[in-house]
Amino acid sequence: MEAKIKIDRDFIISEIDKRIYGSFIEHLGRAVYGGIYDPTHSTADENGFRKDVIDLVNQLNVPIIRYPGGNFVSSYKWEDGIGPKEKRPKRLDLAWKTIEDNSFGLHEFMEWSKKVNAEVNMAVNLGTRGIQEACDILEYCNHKEGTYLSDLRKQNGAKDPFGIKTWCLGNEMDGPWQIGHKTSYEYGRLARETARAMKAIDPNLEFVVCGSSNSSMPTFVSWEAEVLDITYDEANYLSLHHYFDNLDNDLSDYLAKSIMMDKFIDSVISIADYVKAKKRSSKTMMLSFDEWNVWFHSKSQDNEINEKTPWSKAPRLLEDIYTFEDALLVGSLIMSLLRHSDRVKIACLAQLVNVIAPIFTEPNGKAWAQTIFYPSMQASNNGRGIALRTEVKSPKYDSKNFNDVPYLDSMVIYNEEKKEIVVFAVNRSDTEVIDAEIELGGFKANKIIEFSTMTGFDIKAVNSSEDDSVKPCECTYIGIYENVLVKFPPLSWNMIRISVDKN
Ligand code: AHR
Repeated sequence: MEAKIKIDRDFIISEIDKRIYGSFIEHLGRAVYGGIYDPTHSTADENGFRKDVIDLVNQLNVPIIRYPGGNFVSSYKWEDGIGPKEKRPKRLDLAWKTIEDNSFGLHEFMEWSKKVNAEVNMAVNLGTRGIQEACDILEYCNHKEGTYLSDLRKQNGAKDPFGIKTWCLGNEMDGPWQIGHKTSYEYGRLARETARAMKAIDPNLEFVVCGSSNSSMPTFVSWEAEVLDITYDEANYLSLHHYFDNLDNDLSDYLAKSIMMDKFIDSVISIADYVKAKKRSSKTMMLSFDEWNVWFHSKSQDNEINEKTPWSKAPRLLEDIYTFEDALLVGSLIMSLLRHSDRVKIACLAQLVNVIAPIFTEPNGKAWAQTIFYPSMQASNNGRGIALRTEVKSPKYDSKNFNDVPYLDSMVIYNEEKKEIVVFAVNRSDTEVIDAEIELGGFKANKIIEFSTMTGFDIKAVNSSEDDSVKPCECTYIGIYENVLVKFPPLSWNMIRISVDKN
């Protein structure tokens, strides 16, 4: 089948905020304990951080990491995780029914984030706690010295303030499962007053207020409208969360689910702009898609663990093992974020290690890259610069839940510094090669620097510690004539880097 990708140098969506390639570490399952932190592992450094995991995170090039939750944050006492480890209390974690021994806390995370060159996006507990505790952690982290909490930080080994700029005001407060669940009015008021008090301590902060936990929540739309109505002046970002599944085991429908993400973001933009218009405000609300991924493989296992072994430390929760088809969807989800990069400024692949994650570890064993690692890594390393409006002319199909799904999904980025055009593309057809012509308006294509494709695997193929062969390989291309001509194999994730000059 034939398709065309068309861009023009002047048709710009936005400069991409690199934080769109962020991720998330929650005190959940083996994300922290046995994931990033395992003092007993052979690669552990002097802090107990697994160096093999650090290497993989560095390959992903993650600019910002949300911490410490997630549902976990809504009953977390941050003070439990500071000071001498032997004095730190063991607590019940109400969100995941586990034991938190607090041997890893704030200082450890700040230290670890330096090793992976990531900024920290810190969440505060607005479930069981409120304004005072949010101000306390901020004072501890960001105030230079001379107060009880800032001096305590220094005493605990951090002479310089952490300087954390981005703060999430709670997590999924619309969800009845959330400890301290609130109505939109209750949450909006608390978020606003917390932001105001925190700004009194540090005026340079940025705040993410909670949107809906997903677009199927019964309060979706009215929640966003009311929360923004109350917090519009204080908030910088409204959050979106969404996880995707293939529980129906329907490949063509599954691969079309990035359209749900497009629609979800479009709806949230409409709600935010409605509030903007209502308030006659000149400020445009930006979005933080701070939890997104595929999540369904581990759900039945999780129920069993919770029933049979509640209150254990770091059980194997949410350990999805990702397939090749998941990697294709993740590629399309990344393109959805890029298509909305004028409004989505932060996004966090949830999560980073072991828990619904691109990186997986075994205790006393290896760390390896799951299938979804590769589109994330290629996009984060190469999808930086300017997102261009990408017109795709492609044959379409209908699936169970979607009509007119283009077989070819694509997004094009221009990196001015490197003089490079980067084309990301997914071929959703399971039988047909797509012969694509790429028309680069305003550019002269010089040569193909790289054409990498992830294809040819069984759709259910997974990576493991023994065999991690589900990954991209170098692909041959047809050539550059007037336009760039390429073939996208059936069921493939592709990245093409083209060196260009301006025309
Ligand atoms: O990422 C796993 C969980 O999903 C998070 O704790 C929560 O915020 C969401 O429901």
